[in-house]
Amino acid sequence: MDKILIRGGKPLHGSVQVRGAKNAALPLMAAAILAEGPCTLHNVPCLHDIFSMDKLLTSMGMSVEFTGRYMTLDASSMNSYTASYDLVRKMRASFFVLGPLLAKFKKARVSLPGGCAIGTRPVDIHLKGLEALGAKICIEEGYVVADGELTGADFAMDFPSVGATENVMMAACRAKGVTRLSNVAREPEIADLARFLNAMGARISGAGTDLITIVGVDSLSGAEHVVVADRIEAGTFLIATMAAGGDVTVLNANADHLPTCIAKLREAGGEIEVHGARIRVRAPERPKAVDLTTQPYPGFATDLQAQIMAMLTVADGVSVIRETVFENRFMQVAELVRMGAQIDLDGNSAIVRGVPALSGAPVMASDLRASAALIIAGLAAKKGETAIARVYHIDRGYERIEERLASLGADIERVND
Ligand code: UD1
Repeated sequence: MDKILIRGGKPLHGSVQVRGAKNAALPLMAAAILAEGPCTLHNVPCLHDIFSMDKLLTSMGMSVEFTGRYMTLDASSMNSYTASYDLVRKMRASFFVLGPLLAKFKKARVSLPGGCAIGTRPVDIHLKGLEALGAKICIEEGYVVADGELTGADFAMDFPSVGATENVMMAACRAKGVTRLSNVAREPEIADLARFLNAMGARISGAGTDLITIVGVDSLSGAEHVVVADRIEAGTFLIATMAAGGDVTVLNANADHLPTCIAKLREAGGEIEVHGARIRVRAPERPKAVDLTTQPYPGFATDLQAQIMAMLTVADGVSVIRETVFENRFMQVAELVRMGAQIDLDGNSAIVRGVPALSGAPVMASDLRASAALIIAGLAAKKGETAIARVYHIDRGYERIEERLASLGADIERVND
């Protein structure tokens, strides 16, 4: 198994390209189920989660070709509406196929994703939304079995779930009549999905706000689309620079999608300039402590919480981080403490007392964003070597991150044990 080795204490300098967003590409791939012709996606990141979705769609008869950052998907050969447990359990985002399958086949059988490392993560809002559109849903042998003709309806979400908004929005594109979804998630990946669906002939308005209106259409055609830039990857590079020191420009990014992260990094003493699709960060001598609370977009992203915590472990002062989106999302804490961080947990809050420096240690990655946090801590550690095990977690969401950080001057390499 691979490990990532980091000898920290080297500031980062230069520029780095951001890839297309994994969290946009996954629902876009699922949306291709709805098209009656071939779809093309550009700027698709080369990641394990993308391969998992490719495998799932292929298992249902879709033809998927992925070369470089370019993907074609053709649903005309699809012959199954079953998403099997073996494939769904590996990645929760597989559940996105439920809405499109139901809209296409009027039937769907999709394994329940089950729990995952960052909490129980139920799918009740997805199911309630589809039921509001007229689907009959039952759970049989661990599978969600849904069928029915979909009809437009008004539905208010209990919580602005990203996945539920995407699932129900995709299904409603082919429902009869008008659907109004309120209290929906406003993440940029949802607006990106709506742009793709509209290019296919859907009639969606309001995506990116908390009220989405969808006028159902009889059929959707193939379309071409460029995946939106990955705001979480961009944020990760900005935070890494703040923690390790230096001056880095993140290219092909969209600063409008990182409002709270940029505000917090400025509060922590970072000098941040935005020029079109470039975001430049100049790190202070030492970051200042800041308090933050994770929230649905446009609040501080839970997917950047672990990374900014790693930065705050070496900040001047005491920071309080509140996690309100997921239970159990402080898995990086025990590993950061092994590197010398001072963190106390109190329910959904973490109190981080900044220390002058961390020291390298052997650590274990536990989930995608926690692994990014360990890399950041390794870059910031002033002495010793950090060896991160279980790096397959990081490969789910960051493309060859060690090579890109090395190009910025980090002393980092991947080794095979
Ligand atoms: C998506 C992102 C993930 C990010 C998360 C929150 C993708 C592929 N993944 O995940 O990286 O961390 O948004 O920004 O886009 N919930 C329910 N019932 C539901 C659905 C969700 O209670 O039916 C709860 C979850 O348990 C969680 C919270 O709502 O506590 C947020 O989940 P949700 O917004 O659905 O996240 P995902 O779509 O799974």
